[in-house]
Amino acid sequence: MKKDSQQQPRRREPKATASFEGEAQSSTHPAAEQSLSAMLRQHAEQQFAEELTELAKADSRQRPPNWRLSPWAVRTYLLGGRLSNGFEVSPKYIGNARLIEIAISTLATDRALLLYGLPGTAKSWVSEHLAAAIAGDSTLLIQGTAGTDESALRYGWNYARLLVEGPTPAALVASPLMTAMREGKLARIEELTRISSEVQDTLITILSEKTLPIPELNTEVQARKGFNVIATANNRDKGVNDLSSALMRRFNTVVLPLPQNLEEEVRIVERRVADLGRALELPAEKPALEEIRRVVTIFRELREGKTLDGSLKLKVPSGTLSTAEAISVVNSGLALAAYYGDGTLRAGDLAAGLTGAIVKDPVQDRVVWLEYLQTVMKERTGWQDLYRACREVV
Ligand SMILES: Nc1ncnc2c1ncn2[C@@H]1O[C@H](COP(=O)(O)OP(=O)(O)O)[C@@H](O)[C@H]1O
Ligand SMILES: [Mg+2]
Repeated sequence: MKKDSQQQPRRREPKATASFEGEAQSSTHPAAEQSLSAMLRQHAEQQFAEELTELAKADSRQRPPNWRLSPWAVRTYLLGGRLSNGFEVSPKYIGNARLIEIAISTLATDRALLLYGLPGTAKSWVSEHLAAAIAGDSTLLIQGTAGTDESALRYGWNYARLLVEGPTPAALVASPLMTAMREGKLARIEELTRISSEVQDTLITILSEKTLPIPELNTEVQARKGFNVIATANNRDKGVNDLSSALMRRFNTVVLPLPQNLEEEVRIVERRVADLGRALELPAEKPALEEIRRVVTIFRELREGKTLDGSLKLKVPSGTLSTAEAISVVNSGLALAAYYGDGTLRAGDLAAGLTGAIVKDPVQDRVVWLEYLQTVMKERTGWQDLYRACREVV
């Protein structure tokens, strides 16, 4: 890999990387940086390095201590906009701007931010972009699971060293949270409510005292300015551990809603599908807006249990049918169209993905889906192609 990058001229993306406002002190390894364009998925601060740099240049407003950008510029990064020099910043979040403003200003206070909502409402996505814009680093991430223990939040030990040297600073393995405290950055905790209540309680001291004690070394880590936490939680998680009221008081909660209407959801899917298609280098044409509109219509009608015009009541399938799933249905359809079709997204390319997203339970959901096909799709003008294609795969 290294040889390859020495022979070839530097590509555009790596140059922009980590140059966001000088050299980022992020953990990006120089060798890793050179082959960035070969990465399957780049971190937000890598992928949007150019936008972040332009924003930093245009940004003369006051920044909270240790922030890379002012709240104004972070807002522009999240919601998109045009800078005074004409540079276009793409929108990352599509929806209520006020929610994003509340999220950003929360992070400038001593309260942490909890993004809460249904699956696929862009909680992780917003969290990553906030961390990228504010701290220049979205990688200080803890994935919450039932098995997350205290050391994942606080610190662990390198056991080989611990045995030889005993507890020393060099034997200590910092958690992403500890690193964020030391460097004055944002730590991200995904799926906070999946973590057991006792482990969650570890956060209380950290969030209220901004200190992480290390009794073994008779010392502590005091958070630098700029440190804060962004957590996400699903409200449809099974086996969730509610947040204790003591912990809840340390968070400001922002609920991310489902897209308000068809147009908004179509815009989200269209934009993300275009991005993903570019990243995966799919040789397909620009996705047909009409097909995206049909997928989103089906998702919204089944999710809400009625047709968009309200004329017909429908049974609701067991899956969440999130925007994120609509994105992957269109995306897989595009791959089929690109590799086995003529590059144009058609009904036949969407049928299998649609059915897979809707029929999660092979018995009940299948009934729901068949009923939808018969009562809605079959009767809808111009939808016969999709009806037939779906009938073939159910
Ligand atoms: N309102 C929105 N604006 C922009 N993208 C969205 C929106 N809602 C969903 N998405 C897209 O849906 C995908 C899934 O979001 P994700 O953050 O993984 O969901 P969550 O963490 O809430 O389950 C992301 O690719 C994101 O771009
Ligand atoms: Mg998530």
